[in-house]
Formats: sequence, structure tokens, C-alpha cells
Amino acid sequence: MTTSAQQFVTPLTFQALSGHPVHTALFDAAQEQAMGHIHLARWADLLLIAPASANTLAKMANGLADDLLSTLYLASECPVYVAPAMNQAMWHKAATQDNMRRLQQHNVSVIGPAIGQQACGEQGFGRMSEPADICQHLLADHKPKPMQGIKLLISAGPTREPLDPVRYITNRSSGKMGYAIATAAKQAGALVTLVSGPVNIPEPAEVNIVKVETADQMYSAVMQRAEQHDIYIGAAAVADYRPAVLQDHKIKKQHDHSVIELTKNPDIIGSVASLPSKPFVVGFAAETNDLENYAILKLQTKNLDIIAANWVGQTEGGFDSERNALQVFWPDGNKQFAMTDKSTLAQQLLSLITEKFHEKNPAKNS
Ligand code: PMT
Repeated sequence: MTTSAQQFVTPLTFQALSGHPVHTALFDAAQEQAMGHIHLARWADLLLIAPASANTLAKMANGLADDLLSTLYLASECPVYVAPAMNQAMWHKAATQDNMRRLQQHNVSVIGPAIGQQACGEQGFGRMSEPADICQHLLADHKPKPMQGIKLLISAGPTREPLDPVRYITNRSSGKMGYAIATAAKQAGALVTLVSGPVNIPEPAEVNIVKVETADQMYSAVMQRAEQHDIYIGAAAVADYRPAVLQDHKIKKQHDHSVIELTKNPDIIGSVASLPSKPFVVGFAAETNDLENYAILKLQTKNLDIIAANWVGQTEGGFDSERNALQVFWPDGNKQFAMTDKSTLAQQLLSLITEKFHEKNPAKNS
């Protein structure tokens, strides 16, 4: 409590009503080395200053530390919230508004103020937000993220299957869908490993990226990691076949017709789904016709938990488009996600995957 706060309520009343000790002094003789403010700053998960007066906000904005509260703020490394409370004219004053802007630049979160009857009898902005609203705000900001603690492995982009040192067979995948899922999963709290084919888009932040080129390399990268992950999502457009022979020199132009013999690549997602300690497995199906039937067939034959099917080769959606739509199937249900941008679609798909994952793995529900 600041000296001003103690004019309204005595520390003894506050301590009796809250059931918690009240600190008022910068140097606390009861603390080891008398550095009570440092101890308090390290102890707190979050610092809320409520009510925050114009004076306290001004001191915070300018780095002044002449009492316990302002020193505590300066010494804290946890998230800081303020719930301003002051006369409406003081709130609107340019100096206060400058201070508020400065505090927000310093990552201080502001709750309120509310509008209404003020302690001084005036009406307007400056009334402290209701305590229940303040608590709700803090809880909403700090609720556990939906994918907290989940380890997600995802493949994205195309593979390149070389014919000779200068040519390869590939497809139109840009990696945008898989990268959007990796980004959304990271934001939802998951630990994400992204196995990526060659793409030309920005890398998602704070995601472990493993770069590969061929289906064989993608197979090794995924199989090495799959059993250490909770969920595997196969968003990559893996080449089903590769040239049977890799020439060590540039193939020369000779005849009018030429035939390339192809050999089958390993089925990555099918192999993941056959592992003894397999993760929850989510496949994609990219189809130009008969989408639903092919998707359900892949769900069953590859033994997947979920398959997300999208049309490809259309004017919008699928390969190299900013937007996409999905028909998602699992053994006893399905859901459609309408055409939207890939990052919104990724969030929608991930909340369904998280729900189904938790249904199958109730022990992972924290
Ligand atoms: O990358 P974008 O431009 O954003 O486009 C997104 C996308 C269309 C590539 C994506 O949404 C998508 O559909 N990815 C899967 C493409 C694909 O290869 O589908 P498929 O129906 O051929 O394969 C079915 C599933 O088996 C897929 O999960 C695929 O990753 C997997 N597979 C396929 C072949 C193989 N050898 N190994 C595999 O794991």
C-alpha cells in the first residue's frame, strides 16, 4: 500500500479483510538484507496495481522509484497490469495520456478505466474497473493454452525427386497450409517440429525446422521423430514416385520420345500409423475428383485418426492458394470448414484435432 492508499484504508484493516500480509515500506527490517522489494518482485507471477493513481502511473512511466510500489514495479520481471482510477479530468489530461502510451510501449497492460460516478462526485472516465472484471481479464490472459504441453510433428511443402543433377519431379505445393498449421499450433502452446520440403515462404517463429528435399529424406526425418511426438500431421505433398535411376550427369536430348521409369516412394504417413508407439495421426487428401470417397478410403487404408480433404486443381483453394476449404473425416464423424484464409483454417482444424486427440488420450488432458 502506498502512503496515499493508507489514507483511505489502514494496512491493518486491509490485512484483516484480505487475510494476507500488507507491505508498505521500501526497506523491510524483517527481510533478510532488508530488501523486501526485490524478494516481492521475484515472488510474484504477475503484478497488478489497482487502483493505479495518476501519480503512480506517472512515476512508473518515468522510472521513478521512491516508494515500495514504484520500486517493486521497476524491479519486477513478471507481466504487469494497471487498473487506473482518478478524476475524469486527470485521466483526460495530456500528461496522463502520454504516460499511458508510454506504459503500453513498456508492455504494461491497462485494464479500464470504466465510466461512471466517481469518488469525487463527478461523472466520466476514470472510475476503476469492477474487481470482478479485473479478475476476469487476468484469468482470460493467463488461461492455459489449448495445445500446452503437446508435441506436434508436421510435414509441409512438396518433395523434389531428382532425375539428374539439374532436373527433378515435383508438385505445386507451396507449403502455405502446413506452415499455417505449424504457426497456429505454436501460438496454441504446442512444441512444434516442422519437417519441410523446399519452399519459398517465411519460416514460422519458435518452431524447430528440419529441411529435406526428397520423399526418402522426409521419410527418415519423420520416422526418426514420430514416436517422440503426440501428434503427426502429414500436410506435405509427398511424391508418390521417384525416378528409378538417378543419372549422375545431365541427360542429353536424343530421341523424339523418352520414357522415365519410376519407382514407388515410401508411404510416410502409413508407416507412422504402423509404429508401435504411434502418435495421433492426421493426414491430408488432395483430390481433383471424388473427394469424399478417396478421403475416407485413405483414412481407412492408412489407419489414420483424422483426414482433412481438400480439392486441388480448382481456381481457388488447395495448392499455392492463400485460401482453402476442408472436409474433415474421422472414423465416426465429419466436419466441413468453408473457404477462408489458410491461417484461420489452420486454427479451426487444430481445435478439432486437439478435441479428438484429448478424447483419445484423456490422460494428456491437463
Ligand atoms: O502447400 P500448399 O500450397 O499450401 O497446399 C496445401 C496442400 C494442398 C498441399 C495440402 O493441403 C495437402 O492436401 N497436403 C497433402 C497432399 C498430398 O500429398 O495428398 P495425398 O492425397 O497424395 O496424400 C495423402 C496423405 O498421405 C497426405 O497426408 C500425404 O502427406 C501422405 N503421404 C503421401 C504419399 C507418401 N509417399 N507419403 C505420405 O505420407
